Amino acid sequence: MLDHTGPVVAAERNAARIFHADHLFFVTNGTSTSNKIVWQSTVAPGDVVVVDRNCHKSILHAITIIGAIPVFLMPTRNHYGIIGPIPLSEFSWENIERKIAANPFAETGARPRILTITQSTYDGVLYNVETIKEMLDGRIDRLHFDEAWLPHAPFHDFYRNYHAIGEDRALCAESMIFST
Ligand SMILES: Cc1ncc(COP(=O)(O)O)c(C=O)c1O
Repeated sequence: MLDHTGPVVAAERNAARIFHADHLFFVTNGTSTSNKIVWQSTVAPGDVVVVDRNCHKSILHAITIIGAIPVFLMPTRNHYGIIGPIPLSEFSWENIERKIAANPFAETGARPRILTITQSTYDGVLYNVETIKEMLDGRIDRLHFDEAWLPHAPFHDFYRNYHAIGEDRALCAESMIFST
């Protein structure tokens, strides 16, 4: 299945057409493995990474396996203990720079290799991807949206900019977008 030739690559190209992706790869196992494939092909030991504190544990595994240096974006939590959205201010470059500067393991001024956001939490919290692209394009090499619960989003107007990749969605000028 991981040999991208013959009928497999033909099906991957058809899926890329349907999802409006430049490249699309099937993965045996689920989104945990997909997340690790994205990370292990893009992050090296000692790289600074910017991660949703409410990310799936496969991302925490990737941080541990690779030896990356995480800087966390903190979501809100209400008095019922329910985790809400990461506030917009957490995504500002000044805030991320400040967090890197305050991290004793990170090199001063290090450029983050990847941002990973849980795109649809279990409670249905979604982020406007175009806003995140505007704020972080060129600042972080890869913008990765863990869309384990969101593959249906490109097929309904309701979700418009609230998923990573779809019809008529502009590329970043510099950063690469991943959806798992
Ligand atoms: C946001 C998110 N990412 C990744 C995963 C992992 O998916 P899988 O169980 O297919 O490995 C899950 C699983 O529920 C998830 O909710």
